[in-house]
Amino acid sequence: MFLNIDEKLMYTIAFLSQKGGAGKTTLATCVARQLQLEGEDVILVDSDPQGSARDWRAASEKDSVVVVGVDRPTLDKDIKTLSNNGKRWVVVDGAPRSEQMTVSTIKAADIVLIPVQPSPYDVWAAEDLVSIIRARQEVTDGKPKAAFLISRAIKRTELSKEVVGALEDFELPVFVSKTTQLVTYPKSASIGSTPMDTEPDGNAAKEIRAIVAELRQMLQQK
Ligand SMILES: Nc1ncnc2c1ncn2[C@@H]1O[C@H](COP(=O)(O)OP(=O)(O)O)[C@@H](O)[C@H]1O
Ligand SMILES: [Mg+2]
Repeated sequence: MFLNIDEKLMYTIAFLSQKGGAGKTTLATCVARQLQLEGEDVILVDSDPQGSARDWRAASEKDSVVVVGVDRPTLDKDIKTLSNNGKRWVVVDGAPRSEQMTVSTIKAADIVLIPVQPSPYDVWAAEDLVSIIRARQEVTDGKPKAAFLISRAIKRTELSKEVVGALEDFELPVFVSKTTQLVTYPKSASIGSTPMDTEPDGNAAKEIRAIVAELRQMLQQK
């Protein structure tokens, strides 16, 4: 059984995909920062040995999100040491390619979001990841919850039949909110920032706020 959202002290949200370039680091940094802007205590765990989230933090202002690097497959145990007495969110920027890291991250996560670019190839590439998540859900009565998150969509373009079909094959929910291809994401990341800080009224900031709102809804669903 899941603990009620108000009783649980730590929520772990992981962005995972085996593919590089899917948008994991962009989403993890932006979602972590948005949670912080909403008043939450949040830590960003960089599990990718490439250290992009750590590079992002190194370029950023003092009051941004704390980033810790945990790039060993003991992540599920290591994350427990990050708990404090109050409520805390842990956002994990996933490591591509390492199955051991993926398994350990799935063990730690309450929710796994799988960013996919709107191409059937990207969706099909999630097959192994979805199998690992399913295997875990079977032994835990459904934890972690998981969903696809469309990343880098071209604005005002409908998803093709092929993409919709590929997504349906997996029988996982698909977030209604998504990111579209916007230069604000890389531009803000290059100075260790986020769209909510550099262009709070822009479309990218709106997209991230919508994703965080949907994430909160998902956590509350039984
Ligand atoms: N919605 C977006 N619009 C424009 N560029 C994006 C978007 N999301 C990610 N990018 C860019 O695409 C590249 C890959 O994204 P990244 O978040 O690093 O993916 P991953 O961590 O999965 O490898 C980066 O250069 C990033 O700035
Ligand atoms: Mg990355």
